[in-house]
Amino acid sequence: MQDILLALTLAAGVLGQSSSTYVDSNTGITFQSFLDTSKDVFFGIALPTDTSDDVIGQIVGPADASWASFDFGSSMINNLLVVAWPYEGQVIASTRLTTGYTAPPEYIGSAAIKPISNGTFVNSTHFSYTYLCTGCAIESSSLRDNVGVFGWALSTTALTDASTTSAALTYHAAGFGAFGLDIDAARSDSFGSWAAMAASSNSTIPTIPKPPGSNSTLPVTTSNATYDYIIAGGGPAGIIVAQRLAETGADVLLIERGPASTYASGGEKVLDWNDTVTQYDVPALAYSLSSMDTDYCVDTASQAGCLLGGGTMVNAMMYVPPQPVDFDDKWPVGWKWTDVVASAERLYTKLPGTSVPSADGERYDQGAYDVLSKFFDGLGWSLTDIAESPDNKHNTYSHPHWSIGNGKRASPVTTYLPLAQSMPNFELQLETKVMRAVRNGSYVSGVEVETTAGNRQLINVNAGGKVILASGALSSPRILWNSGIGRSEQIQVVADGQTSVILPRESEWIDLPVGEGVQDHPIVTLKFQTGSLPALASAAFTNPSINDTEMFAQGEGLLTQSGQRLNFWSSAEASDGATRYFQGTCNAPSNNTVQMKIYLTHGLTSSGDLTITSAGNTEFAVQPWLNTDADREALATFIDQLLEYTRTSNSSLRYTSSTGTNDTGASLLDTFVSGSHFVGTARMGSDEGSVVVDTDTKVYGTDNLYVVDASIHPDLPTGNTQAIVMVAAEHAADKILAASVNGTEATPSSKFTTSRVIRTGFTNSYSQKQRKRHMHLPRAGRRSMLRSGLRSF
Ligand SMILES: Cc1cc2nc3c(=O)[nH]c(=O)nc-3n(C[C@H](O)[C@H](O)[C@H](O)COP(=O)(O)OP(=O)(O)OC[C@H]3O[C@@H](n4cnc5c(N)ncnc54)[C@H](O)[C@@H]3O)c2cc1C
Ligand SMILES: *[C@@H]1O[C@H](CO)[C@@H](O)[C@H](O)[C@H]1NC(C)=O
Ligand SMILES: *[C@@H]1O[C@H](CO)[C@@H](O)[C@H](O)[C@H]1NC(C)=O
Ligand SMILES: *[C@@H]1O[C@H](CO)[C@@H](O)[C@H](O)[C@H]1NC(C)=O
Ligand SMILES: *[C@@H]1O[C@H](CO)[C@@H](O)[C@H](O)[C@H]1NC(C)=O
Ligand SMILES: *[C@@H]1O[C@H](CO)[C@@H](O)[C@H](O)[C@H]1NC(C)=O
Ligand SMILES: *[C@@H]1O[C@H](CO)[C@@H](O)[C@H](O)[C@H]1NC(C)=O
Ligand SMILES: *[C@@H]1O[C@H](CO)[C@@H](O)[C@H](O)[C@H]1NC(C)=O
Ligand SMILES: *[C@@H]1O[C@H](CO)[C@@H](O)[C@H](O)[C@H]1NC(C)=O
Ligand SMILES: *[C@@H]1O[C@H](CO)[C@@H](O)[C@H](O)[C@H]1NC(C)=O
Ligand SMILES: *[C@@H]1O[C@H](CO)[C@@H](O)[C@H](O)[C@H]1NC(C)=O
Ligand SMILES: *[C@@H]1O[C@H](CO)[C@@H](O)[C@H](O)[C@H]1NC(C)=O
Ligand SMILES: *[C@@H]1O[C@H](CO)[C@@H](O)[C@H](O)[C@H]1NC(C)=O
Repeated sequence: MQDILLALTLAAGVLGQSSSTYVDSNTGITFQSFLDTSKDVFFGIALPTDTSDDVIGQIVGPADASWASFDFGSSMINNLLVVAWPYEGQVIASTRLTTGYTAPPEYIGSAAIKPISNGTFVNSTHFSYTYLCTGCAIESSSLRDNVGVFGWALSTTALTDASTTSAALTYHAAGFGAFGLDIDAARSDSFGSWAAMAASSNSTIPTIPKPPGSNSTLPVTTSNATYDYIIAGGGPAGIIVAQRLAETGADVLLIERGPASTYASGGEKVLDWNDTVTQYDVPALAYSLSSMDTDYCVDTASQAGCLLGGGTMVNAMMYVPPQPVDFDDKWPVGWKWTDVVASAERLYTKLPGTSVPSADGERYDQGAYDVLSKFFDGLGWSLTDIAESPDNKHNTYSHPHWSIGNGKRASPVTTYLPLAQSMPNFELQLETKVMRAVRNGSYVSGVEVETTAGNRQLINVNAGGKVILASGALSSPRILWNSGIGRSEQIQVVADGQTSVILPRESEWIDLPVGEGVQDHPIVTLKFQTGSLPALASAAFTNPSINDTEMFAQGEGLLTQSGQRLNFWSSAEASDGATRYFQGTCNAPSNNTVQMKIYLTHGLTSSGDLTITSAGNTEFAVQPWLNTDADREALATFIDQLLEYTRTSNSSLRYTSSTGTNDTGASLLDTFVSGSHFVGTARMGSDEGSVVVDTDTKVYGTDNLYVVDASIHPDLPTGNTQAIVMVAAEHAADKILAASVNGTEATPSSKFTTSRVIRTGFTNSYSQKQRKRHMHLPRAGRRSMLRSGLRSF
């Protein structure tokens, strides 16, 4: 969804476009409308002449579309989306509100849509959804501010479960954009009589029967292979823990729901300029992945990677070693910096990262660095090396430090995983989703998995074995709820839902605060004009020159760098007496312009709650960002300070903004976007009852179920999260190895019976699919637009 939102930041360009008046013959309603003839989509609105917040809208799309949506917004976030799609001859509609990236969650709030039946139908060529949205203008910055810029999107990728209003939206690859509508012309005295048509029809959308068997039990087979450890999720935490456990000789199964990623791991998304690297391998493509066919999860509350390597394959490779205070403030005993430092050292030995990724020792495209480093020098801030001095985070700046090695994206996929795969007792199973831990009372006997084809299987652990969740902070909670662990409110949603999950009896549900207290870094982006500063267009990365691709083949040049050009850090004490840290991540998005993404980081106190829908998607019941006064004040004050620095007469930077040069820190807070740095959905601690896992990372109330990913982190770090996730996973492996299951040591297996295979589905044979020779990248016009937009890293 972010692309709609990005497009809207360019709204100025569409304001001049006039909307047209259209009288709908089915309903008699006069709309101000927008028609995209090439995509065959139509959007209309009608408004009342009084001050009511009601709106009438119409969405018409091709009958074979997966969904089409109308976005009520001219700013990036907190604008209502009305999404509609055809399903078995009827139209299903859903309201969404997005606060960050990826598939927008269902809207929770007072605005409501009702269909107008004469304008809601599916015919042989189109579907049409005409609706009254009561209270809708409240959720529309465009209507509140009388701006008249709206957005649309269209997808032709099938929804996983089109029968429910809560279906997770697929990527809108078919098209998206922004358009202007004449708000004044949309107002009509007839609004009341048109709106009455909604009241006289059914007040809610028709109830669509669930597909047959949707809550019946699917046939489940049992695997004849058993393991000492089963790990659910092949992201950074899962891979690190799997390797550390496998090196003891134990039988380890690592289950990843997505496909391979890097070329070396079997990834298929190779590039047209080099068919032995995938889009995930090339550091310079990190800022372009969102405009490509990238394996993001579609059922999580915000953006996450659903492929081998998880977030480390879709992230922007910032690799910020945690500083001691990141652990010392809130992590429990046994997890303070002095406890984890050896784990950190082990990580950095395998995955050191670099701030000079090009093999020739040069840094490329340094214009933004030069401008910004002078600016910060002028403020008296100092240059630091964040790998050498992780705790030098007050009024400092640095070259970006990246998870890059040998000129390519580096990750546990490129470092730990090959070590594990060289051991015969390790097995990786791709494209297989762990549904739940199979639990009888406190004992977990294994997992139930589902392949992409929809087949279910039970895989068991050996006596004394352990099941370890590593599916990420937005997905591990789903597995816990599906295992009857969490608050009964969410477990009941699973019980009543459509995901065919078999739960333990209600008397065996384990009451723990799963999903409660989720946290993330919020980001506010500022742009500044500066003197002559040439900026590379995104085509320099997505359609690189032969010179650059030849240098890349040697591990050198522009393409070995990710997108950032300078980072800075500061800190301040807020009114609640707590110190909060700030990170800046900077580049040159367009000519003569530098951009600073300002993150509020360690010390922030805001948090939210994650929950689950009946379709099995995770979403935010309470959003995690900027909901404490001290956080808002701290970030606003820091931004005001930066703006003030740049408003001095001789500053090299001049603030620019689409919303006006009168912006203040406080007025800019609402433009924040997610940092995609989620933690704390299955928190670790020693006070049973208020946390989910103990200091061995074991789920309270269970004998042998563990969580090792970002879910367990009780706090946010000063920098981006991947490094601290990896440090904590290294440390968790030690704890798990030391922990017994009711006195039964998880003794290393000496059987070495399993051979090293990469399995897809349930077949035991190595299946290397035919690689696609040529991958088509999206066309250039869209790319440059996307690149100039806000991003989360
Ligand atoms: C767009 C984006 C940009 C980011 N940029 C940066 C950055 O520049 N620097 C940085 O430090 N951090 C960044 N981050 C954050 C960082 O990537 C995450 O903190 C980190 O990846 C979290 O690791 P994890 O192991 O907890 O979970 P994840 O990385 O989310 O891994 C979870 C894995 O489990 C798999 N999985 C999920 N559910 C199941 C299931 N049911 N069964 C089997 N497998 C499952 C997923 O496919 C995935 O592979 C970014 C994140 C995103 C999304
Ligand atoms: C189907 O409905 C759409 C929208 O009202 C209309 O434009 C189209 O002509 C209709 N198609 C047919 C075959 O009637
Ligand atoms: C809907 O259309 C039918 C057939 O054209 C018409 O008789 C009816 O009055 C319309 N209903 C409303 C509420 O306009
Ligand atoms: C209301 O819904 C019912 C059941 O779906 C349907 O039979 C009926 O025709 C609908 N009534 C109107 C006015 O649309
Ligand atoms: C499906 O669930 C409903 C309500 O939860 C229940 O009444 C019904 O019997 C279930 N059907 C099957 C086939 O399990
Ligand atoms: C599992 O069963 C299949 C088919 O019966 C057999 O080929 C395979 O060797 C068995 N694997 C193990 C680990 O026993
Ligand atoms: C101009 O900038 C320098 C630092 O670069 C600073 O010392 C000086 O005070 C500034 N002058 C004015 C008028 O702001
Ligand atoms: C669960 O465990 C109990 C003993 O703890 C046992 O009696 C029961 O049969 C088990 N149930 C299942 C379904 O395995
Ligand atoms: C900067 O200007 C140059 C020359 O006009 C142009 O080729 C380049 O695309 C511009 N950069 C961006 C990011 O627009
Ligand atoms: C190739 O790119 C490098 C780095 O930008 C540059 O130094 C070199 O001159 C370029 N070579 C050619 C032939 O363009
Ligand atoms: C592709 O990149 C690899 C480095 O990852 C290099 O070894 C190879 O020569 C490149 N191939 C081409 C055709 O440039
Ligand atoms: C900025 O504020 C001034 C004084 O309040 C006002 O006159 C001006 O219109 C504002 N400018 C913008 C772009 O909002
Ligand atoms: C493990 O020990 C706990 C109590 O310490 C007990 O409740 C549980 O049933 C035991 N599990 C097994 C599998 O013996």
